[in-house]
Amino acid sequence: MVEIDISNISAPNRYTLLTSLVIPRPIAFVTTLDEYGVVNAAPFSYFNLMGNDPPIVALGIGKDESRKLGLKDTGYNIQKTREFVINTVGEDIIEQVNLTSIDFPPEMDESEIAGLTKLPSVKVKPPRIKESASNLECRHISTLEIGNTRIVLGEIIYLHIQKEYVTLQENDHYVLTKLIKSVGRVHGRDFYTRATSDLFRLSRQSYREWKNKLDRRRQ
Ligand SMILES: Cc1cc2nc3c(=O)[nH]c(=O)nc-3n(C[C@H](O)[C@H](O)[C@H](O)COP(=O)(O)O)c2cc1C
Repeated sequence: MVEIDISNISAPNRYTLLTSLVIPRPIAFVTTLDEYGVVNAAPFSYFNLMGNDPPIVALGIGKDESRKLGLKDTGYNIQKTREFVINTVGEDIIEQVNLTSIDFPPEMDESEIAGLTKLPSVKVKPPRIKESASNLECRHISTLEIGNTRIVLGEIIYLHIQKEYVTLQENDHYVLTKLIKSVGRVHGRDFYTRATSDLFRLSRQSYREWKNKLDRRRQ
């Protein structure tokens, strides 16, 4: 074993090691509005679904001391307007999404620069992105500020899914994940993975099922 005291290594080395070990990470393409209504769009892979009752997402947003309040525009806008949309990211739009990660000044709308289409949301003011397979409209719940990271928690309050990617039957809401071609982040900077490339299935059993199998083996 190689032993590493994480507090004794440089920030870039910490980034490379940890972002290679905690993989894959989904990508949230986040749209927000500032207090004057200017649209902002940027990707975040410190992102995940934290629960479904209520449906909670978390975003890890780094600070940027050169910006207003020392925050990246997304962090600033969520603090000011308390709403955001997570647009999911498929392989077909990853280059455009990557372009929006350039540190454009706050008055520039990255979605326009990337040639993406904005559609109105239903329950929040920031627009959603038409080219995404799904859009999660979120209301800000809470922010934890820990060192240089802001962990933003939001509740999903409305969901859009393009109809070719979902079947909705009364007791079986099923998303056709293979068609969506989601991508996630792996390794350090600039590496991505296809989320559907090598699926396998492993069913989860209850304690009773596990115990019954063991008892049968012992008989
Ligand atoms: C795929 C991808 C994932 C990223 N994930 C994060 C992240 O989780 N946290 C973060 O602070 N920056 C992340 N970035 C960098 C931001 O997108 C970048 O700093 C962007 O300029 C922030 O935009 P904003 O100032 O408009 O909010 C990521 C960039 C890319 C390309």
